[in-house]
Amino acid sequence: MTLEQAIAEISKNAAGEWQAIEEYLNLISDLRKIHAPKQLIDDIEEIISDELNHGQKLFHWVVKLSNIQPAKD
Ligand SMILES: [Fe+2]
Repeated sequence: MTLEQAIAEISKNAAGEWQAIEEYLNLISDLRKIHAPKQLIDDIEEIISDELNHGQKLFHWVVKLSNIQPAKD
């Protein structure tokens, strides 16, 4: 595995975190329609928070390993 392949793999996993967030948000939307318990919504929001944390950690490593900084514009 090359460094670029490793960075690509980490990027793929980061994308997976964002995909999970999208799916959890859609789930919350569906759960609200059936008036699901607030605690369930709260728990899923906590899971989303965890996924954001995972995404940030993976983003950090993509930047660090690639030595490519995000554009400022
Ligand atoms: Fe995650």
